[in-house]
Amino acid sequence: MSLAIRSERPGDEDAIRETVRAAFAATEQVNGQEEADAVDALRRLPEYDRELSFVAELEGRIIGHLLFTPCRIVSEAAETPALALAPLSVLRGYERHFAGTRLMRHGLAVCRERGHRIVIVLGHAKYYRRFGFRPAQGFGIEPPWAVHPDYFQALALQPGALAGVSGMVEYLPPLDMREPQSS
Ligand SMILES: CC(C)(COP(=O)(O)OP(=O)(O)OC[C@H]1O[C@@H](n2cnc3c(N)ncnc32)[C@H](O)[C@@H]1OP(=O)(O)O)[C@@H](O)C(=O)NCCC(=O)NCCS
Repeated sequence: MSLAIRSERPGDEDAIRETVRAAFAATEQVNGQEEADAVDALRRLPEYDRELSFVAELEGRIIGHLLFTPCRIVSEAAETPALALAPLSVLRGYERHFAGTRLMRHGLAVCRERGHRIVIVLGHAKYYRRFGFRPAQGFGIEPPWAVHPDYFQALALQPGALAGVSGMVEYLPPLDMREPQSS
């Protein structure tokens, strides 16, 4: 069984929704509905780029998904475009395929090739560290909400991309936990 990683295509929407919902529901910390709703709400926005929505497919079945959407790092002096990595979802039971790692490596490579410079993620410190993410606080980049500083992380996709960049991250509304969910 070989795992294929590719960008989202029309018709993938329901399988992506179910993958996101079930992957997060399996954590037993959330029911996955909000995460699945956020992906659907992001897809309705003009900023959504289907090429930066990646699926992991095993024998025709989508078992993993990874999404990048635009965000901004805003200070009084400057506004720097970046990408928000969220959510990353792999169905429970498929661990041995390393779908999360394959999605991450492929997704980050595509983002880099397309000239994107910075990625921001809120998530497990140990998991994302292996892909080069480091606590964003060390760069002077702050989350818009109170979170443990180890979980809020940044990655430079191009050499020096984080040099001189500081400020607070502004997400699109479906990812902004301060805003009511739009679906
Ligand atoms: C986190 C997740 C994407 C990992 O996907 P995966 O395909 O099972 O994992 P990978 O093959 O990429 O990586 C496996 C490694 O990650 C580690 N790992 C898996 N889940 C982890 C977690 N929640 N926290 C820290 N490390 C984790 C494994 O221990 C393993 O480490 P090892 O290589 O040292 O043995 C998947 O478990 C998932 O969808 N979880 C529910 C949703 C979620 O939490 N998403 C991430 C939000 S930040």
